[in-house]
Amino acid sequence: MFRVILISSLLAMVLAGLLNVVLPVTNKLPDFSDITDDVTDVVKSRMNGLVSKGVGRNVKELIGIQKKLKIINKIAAEQVKRANAKHGNPSAHPVVFEESVDHLGMKNKDEVLDSLLFQGDMFLPEDQLDRMIEDAANELGWGHDVLTKLGVATRSKRQALINPPNDYRWELPISYYYDDSICMLVQIEKPKSIAFVLSSLIPGMTAKDTLYDSTMGTNLGPQFGDIVLINNHYQCMCQNATVTCANGGYPNPNGCATCICTGGYGGTTCSDRDPGTENGGATLQATASDSCQTLKTCLGNDDNITNVYNQKSWFIIQAPAGKQVQLIFTKAGSTPGMPFTKTYGCKFQGVEVKIRSGEYNRTGFIFCGDNPVLVSNTTNIIPFTSDNNLAILQIYTMKNMFNLEVKYRYVDSTTDPTTYPVSCQPCQDNNTTCASLVQSCNDPQIASDCPATCGTCPT
Ligand SMILES: *[C@@H]1O[C@H](CO)[C@@H](O)[C@H](O)[C@H]1NC(C)=O
Ligand SMILES: *[C@@H]1O[C@H](CO)[C@@H](O)[C@H](O)[C@H]1NC(C)=O
Ligand SMILES: *[C@@H]1O[C@H](CO)[C@@H](O)[C@H](O)[C@H]1NC(C)=O
Ligand SMILES: *[C@@H]1O[C@H](CO)[C@@H](O)[C@H](O)[C@H]1NC(C)=O
Ligand SMILES: *[C@@H]1O[C@H](CO)[C@@H](O)[C@H](O)[C@H]1NC(C)=O
Ligand SMILES: *[C@@H]1O[C@H](CO)[C@@H](O)[C@H](O)[C@H]1NC(C)=O
Repeated sequence: MFRVILISSLLAMVLAGLLNVVLPVTNKLPDFSDITDDVTDVVKSRMNGLVSKGVGRNVKELIGIQKKLKIINKIAAEQVKRANAKHGNPSAHPVVFEESVDHLGMKNKDEVLDSLLFQGDMFLPEDQLDRMIEDAANELGWGHDVLTKLGVATRSKRQALINPPNDYRWELPISYYYDDSICMLVQIEKPKSIAFVLSSLIPGMTAKDTLYDSTMGTNLGPQFGDIVLINNHYQCMCQNATVTCANGGYPNPNGCATCICTGGYGGTTCSDRDPGTENGGATLQATASDSCQTLKTCLGNDDNITNVYNQKSWFIIQAPAGKQVQLIFTKAGSTPGMPFTKTYGCKFQGVEVKIRSGEYNRTGFIFCGDNPVLVSNTTNIIPFTSDNNLAILQIYTMKNMFNLEVKYRYVDSTTDPTTYPVSCQPCQDNNTTCASLVQSCNDPQIASDCPATCGTCPT
C-alpha cells in the first residue's frame, strides 16, 4: 500500500515537473496499433505459473497488465516529447520509466515477469494501472473514448470529497511527541525535526514488547488492522451485510456477502484456514501433553531468485478446550549453507507466531530465520505457550527455502514448566563426525548417534 502511494505521487511529480506550463496542444495521438491482447501460448503458460505463485489473480489479468504497461510507456514517451518540444529540444529521452531506481535491490532475469512489472520491480494490479493511465491521460488531454478503446477502465466522475463536509480528512500538521525515553541530546539538537539514526549498536526503534521488534517494517502487505483502520476512517463498513463472519472477520465493504478475515483464516465467512499462496498449510490438533508432535514443513525453492511476491502458508494448531498450545521451535530458517539476508521486518523470509487470545486479529510476532530468541537448542529450550487453546503460524518467503520444525503439545496449569518430555526437546547430533556419516544412517548405532543428520530424532 505504501509503495503504491509512493509511486503514484512519484508519477504525479514527474508529470508536474514536465507539464507545469501550458503545452502546445497537438492532440495527435500516438500509434496504438501494437497494443493488443495477443500473447503466445508459451507466454500464457509462463503466466499461468506466475499466477499459481501469487502474481496476479488470473492469466487474463496478467495480459491486461502487460498491455497497460505498454500504454504507460506510450504516455511516458508522449510526456517527454511534449516537454522537449516546450524546451525546444527535439530529441526524446524516456526519463520517466528508466530503470534507474532499484527500489529493493531486487533483480530478476525473467522476461515475462519483467513485462509485468512497473519500473522493473513492482507488481501493480490492473485497476491501479487503470487509474494511473487515466490520470496521466487526462493531463495529456486524451479523452475517455481513447482509453475506453484501449480497454482502460475509467472512473465516471472524479471527486476528492464525496460527501462534504462530513468526509474525514487527515489534518496537517500531524502532531508527535517525544517519549521520555528518547535521549535528551536528540531532543535538544533536533527540536523541529526528528532524525532516526541507523546504528549497528543501538536499534533505531524497539517495540514495547520486544517480541514484536521484527514485526515492525514487515513487507507482508497491508495487514488486517491496517485495512480495518482505512475502512473505518472512510466510513466504508457494510450497512446491510448479508454475511456473518467467523474468527474476527467482518463483511467486506467491496462485496458485503463475503468477509475480510483475520490472518490465518479464509473462505467466504472466514471459517476456513487461509490456503496461502500454495494451497498448503495445515490445521493440526495437539492431542498429547506428555509428549510432543512435530510439524515439519518448508516453503520455497533454493534457487537464489528473489521473487516479487511472498509465498505464504498458514498453520493452525488447536488444543482441547481449556488447554493451551505449547510450541517449541527446533528449526526456523534457511537451508544450511544457503544465503539468507536478515532485515528489519524480515523482508525475505520468516515466521509469524500468534499465541495471544484477543490478539488473533493482529499481526503476530515475526521472526527472521535462525533467531536464537525463537529457536531452541539442547541447552536452551524456549517454550511459546498460547493463553488459550489456539496457536496460529504463518511461514513466508520471497527468496529461497524457509524450513520450519516445531514441536507442539497441549499444557495446562498442572503441567510442570521446568522439564520437557524428550520428544519436545531439540535433538542434536552427538558428535561432529555425523556430517560425514550421512551415507551410513542405516547403521542403527550411527542413526542413534547422529539423529539430526539421519532424521531419526524422536517425533
Ligand atoms: C481485535 O479484537 C479485539 C478484541 O476482540 C478488539 O477489541 C479490536 O478492536 C480488534 N481489532 C481489530 C483491528 O479488529
Ligand atoms: C440498509 O437497510 C435499511 C433498512 O432496511 C435501509 O433503510 C437502508 O437504505 C439500507 N442501506 C443500504 C446502504 O443499503
Ligand atoms: C545459491 O547461492 C549459494 C551461495 O551463494 C550457492 O552455493 C548455490 O549453489 C546457489 N544455488 C543456485 C541454484 O544458484
Ligand atoms: C543455545 O542457545 C543459547 C542462547 O542463544 C546459546 O547461548 C548457547 O550457546 C546455545 N547452545 C548450543 C549448544 O548451541
Ligand atoms: C562420534 O560418532 C562416531 C560414530 O558413531 C563414533 O565412532 C565416535 O566414537 C563418536 N565420537 C565421539 C567423540 O563421541
Ligand atoms: C546420542 O544421543 C542420544 C540422545 O540424543 C542418546 O540416547 C545416545 O546414547 C547418545 N549416544 C552417544 C554415543 O552418546
